[in-house]
Amino acid sequence: MIKVDLSKAKLAESVESYKDQVASIHDMIHNKTGAGNDFLGWVDLPLNYDKEEAEAIKAKVDELKDEIDVLLVCGIGGSYLGARAAIEALNGLFPTNKVEIIYVGNTFSSNYIAQVKEYVKDKEFAINCISKSGTTTETSIAFRIFKDMLEKTKGKEVARKRIIATTDKAKGALKTLSNNEGYTTFVVPDDVGGRYSVLTAVGLFPIAMAGIDIDALLAGAAKAREDLNNPNIEENPAYQYGVARQILCKQGYPAEMFVTYELQLQMTAEWWKQLFGESEGKEGKGILPTSATFSTDLHSLGQFIQEGTKVLYETVLKIEKPISDIEIPSDPDNLDNLNYLAGKTVDFVNKKACEGTIDAHVNTGGVPNIQITMDELTPYTYGYMIYFFEKACALSVYLLDVNPFNQPGVEVYKKNMFKLLGKPGA
Ligand code: PA5
Repeated sequence: MIKVDLSKAKLAESVESYKDQVASIHDMIHNKTGAGNDFLGWVDLPLNYDKEEAEAIKAKVDELKDEIDVLLVCGIGGSYLGARAAIEALNGLFPTNKVEIIYVGNTFSSNYIAQVKEYVKDKEFAINCISKSGTTTETSIAFRIFKDMLEKTKGKEVARKRIIATTDKAKGALKTLSNNEGYTTFVVPDDVGGRYSVLTAVGLFPIAMAGIDIDALLAGAAKAREDLNNPNIEENPAYQYGVARQILCKQGYPAEMFVTYELQLQMTAEWWKQLFGESEGKEGKGILPTSATFSTDLHSLGQFIQEGTKVLYETVLKIEKPISDIEIPSDPDNLDNLNYLAGKTVDFVNKKACEGTIDAHVNTGGVPNIQITMDELTPYTYGYMIYFFEKACALSVYLLDVNPFNQPGVEVYKKNMFKLLGKPGA
């Protein structure tokens, strides 16, 4: 389902030489014996996810989908990136699904929040507030603003039906409020961290509201769980990728650029950046995750990649078959000299751009290149891809002897901010 090609990665060591280390980390992941082992719920999630909750998610979607125009997904970081990545990847940037998904709670930008308020003021909207802790400031502020708006325009009764909280099963401010108000609630499992939570209700409810088949998404992830539950690196592409990136880091490439050729995969890159950046960037270690969308960014960052400081390697996510393709028309005047492409498709050009760019970056620019290929973008393959990167990330970070599942560094700015804001007790 996913192929990893390391033939252009310029690896100084073979990934197979990590065979024993990989096998023992594989055991650590599956037997839950490594650092952060209380956050390994994602490993078996595609099999033992809460089936009743999945049905409740679909029932809530059925209840709301004809009644609302907009779903406000209110969350930040791991509480929204996965859903947004999947929705944009699968529905594209101009979706035809009746319910429009808009993301709030991910910023303190008053400009943005005010614009969303203006945009939804004459629309029927619902709010899915997603917060494991229930206390994240960006999310809580936006939720307070839009909850107030909904209650004032529609009344408390309607608001109660249109607010869905995804949070801890028992504790936190959002859970308490939900109990008091009688909101529908979905659960963020204790043993799944934010950046690994897309296949829980955190991702599943918004993804289902966007009209995407969550059963297929979970089935794809389950297939990946089966395929990648293999300690043998020679047969496990997720582990090959996870090891290759650490070899390149050791070779003097501290930055990884995640490249796609699809604008609708930009949020997938954002999700990937959080997954790897927050899992790995600790104790003065880790690879800086960056991203680019080609050919768009070949007209900006392309220069640096080709001839700038040699700090990065590229990981290209290739999709063999586009969701839709367009034929380039013939033009009798041919003033743009494009008739040599008439009858070819835009995706054909995209593929040639990819081929030519890899050659230019690898052979002329000396930039190592990892290629990851998927057949197509469907809910099933996307579910597979999510699990692939989660597994690769866990293995890769354990190779660095770092706990992949905590994020102690993200608290520092919050402490300063709370002091400056005069938060009681800060
Ligand atoms: O991965 C993480 O842990 C973070 O990105 C969190 O998901 C993010 O900070 C939001 O936290 P919460 O879900 O508690 O509101």
